Amino acid sequence: MSTAALPSPDFAWFDRGRLGLFIHWGVYALPARHEWVQNREHIRPEDYEIYSEHFDPDLFDARGLARQAREAGFTYAVLTTKHHDGFCLWDSTLTDYTAPRTRAGRDLVREFVDAFRAEGLRIGFYHSLIDWHHPDFTVDGVHPLRDDPAEVSLNGERDLGVYRKYLHGQVRELLTGYGQVDYLFFDFSYSQGIGGLPGKGAAEWGSAELLTLIRDLQPGCIVNDRLELGGDVATPEQYQPVVTPTDDSGNPVRWEACQTLNGSWGYDRDNLNDKSSDLLLRMLVDTVSKNGNMLLNIGPDARGAIDARTQERLTDLASWFRLHGRSIYGAGPSEFSPPTDIRYTQNGDRLYVHVFAWPFVHLHLPGLGGRVRYAQLLADGSEVPFQVHLPDHDQPNQHTQPVGLGRDTVTLHLPVRAPNTPVPVIEIFLTS
Ligand code: GLC
Repeated sequence: MSTAALPSPDFAWFDRGRLGLFIHWGVYALPARHEWVQNREHIRPEDYEIYSEHFDPDLFDARGLARQAREAGFTYAVLTTKHHDGFCLWDSTLTDYTAPRTRAGRDLVREFVDAFRAEGLRIGFYHSLIDWHHPDFTVDGVHPLRDDPAEVSLNGERDLGVYRKYLHGQVRELLTGYGQVDYLFFDFSYSQGIGGLPGKGAAEWGSAELLTLIRDLQPGCIVNDRLELGGDVATPEQYQPVVTPTDDSGNPVRWEACQTLNGSWGYDRDNLNDKSSDLLLRMLVDTVSKNGNMLLNIGPDARGAIDARTQERLTDLASWFRLHGRSIYGAGPSEFSPPTDIRYTQNGDRLYVHVFAWPFVHLHLPGLGGRVRYAQLLADGSEVPFQVHLPDHDQPNQHTQPVGLGRDTVTLHLPVRAPNTPVPVIEIFLTS
C-alpha cells in the first residue's frame, strides 16, 4: 500500500521549521553506556529490570527544557515514548513496564507534551517497533537473547500477532491521549534479517493497517519512513548526504537528517566524541541548503538532567539562532551554486551566504552579477560592499587585477576579522 492513497499530512510547519530536537530518554540512561546496551551486552529482560527498579528522574524539568529548546532554535521536538528495550515513558494501560509505575510515579510523555506545546513547539513521538521486553516478540537477529539457542527455539511458542496488537494498541493510546501529535517517528524495519536470523518489517508490524489507523485518528500527523511503506519523510541517520536526496525517479524527497551529539542517542556518560557547536551548525546549514531538516538529539541522564556538554551546545545554538534564524526558518536550497566553503540558503529574494572558512577580504560569488541589490552581515546588519567583477572594464579601486573570475562574478568585500560567531552569514537582497 502506498501512503499516497491516504489523507495528506500537514507539512508546512515541518518544511519551515528545519530544526527538531530529538530526545532519547529511557531506563538505558541508568547504565549510561548507549541505548543499545541491552542488545550489546546480551542482557536478559528480567535482569534489565534492575534499571526500571532504580529509575528516579527527580531532576527532569520539562518546562525548563522546552524553554531552552525554543531559545536554541528548535521548532519541534520528538521524544522516545518507547525504545527497543520496551520501557514506556507514558501511562500505557497495556503494560506495567511504564514510568508511572517506577519511582518516577508520573506520565513523562504528558509532561513533555504539555511543556513543549506551551513553548510553541510541534510535538513528535519516536516509537520503537522493536520490543525486547514483550514476551511475544520473537527472538531475532537484534534481540538481546539472539545467541541463546534455548530462547530462539521457544519462538514457536511466541505469537507475534499478540505483539502486533499491542503495538497498534499503544499507538492508539498515544494518538488519542495527548491531543495533536504532529509527527510519528517509527524505528525500525529489517525484514532482510540480521545475523542469520529472520528480521521484521511491514508484514510483521502490520504497517499498512497501522498507517490507516494513524491517518484515521490524526490525518495531519507526519509519519517517517521506517515502517517499510515509503512514508512521508526519509530519515538518513548519522551522516550528511552529499547531494540533495531524491527518489528513484530523481525527484527531491522530503528528508530529515537525524544526528547525535556524540554518536550515541541515549545518555552515554564516558563518551567524549562530542561534535563542536561549530560543526553542528555547519551540519544544520548544509542540511537546509540541500532542502532537509535536522533532528538533533540529546540524551537526558538517569535523573532527567541535561549534562554540561549538552548545555554548552544548546547555549551556543541559542546565541547563533538569536542572530541568524532567518537564514534557516522558511529557507531552502538556492537557485545559485555556491563556491567552495560556502553554503547558500534562499528564501524568496534573500540569499544567505554561510561562510564555513572566512576568506581574506574578497569573497567571489560566481553567477550573481546583476542580481545583488544590497548585502549585509546578518549578525549586526552592517553593510558589506560589493562589486560586480567585469574584467574588461576599469576598476578604479583595484590595485591588482583578480584573475580567473567569470564576468558575472560578484565580489564581496569582507572585514579581515570574521564576526565572532561559529558560522557567519551574509544576507544578500536579490534584485528580481
Ligand atoms: C536507530 C537506532 C536507535 C536510534 C535511532 C534514531 O535505528 O536503533 O537506537 O533510536 O536509530 O534514529
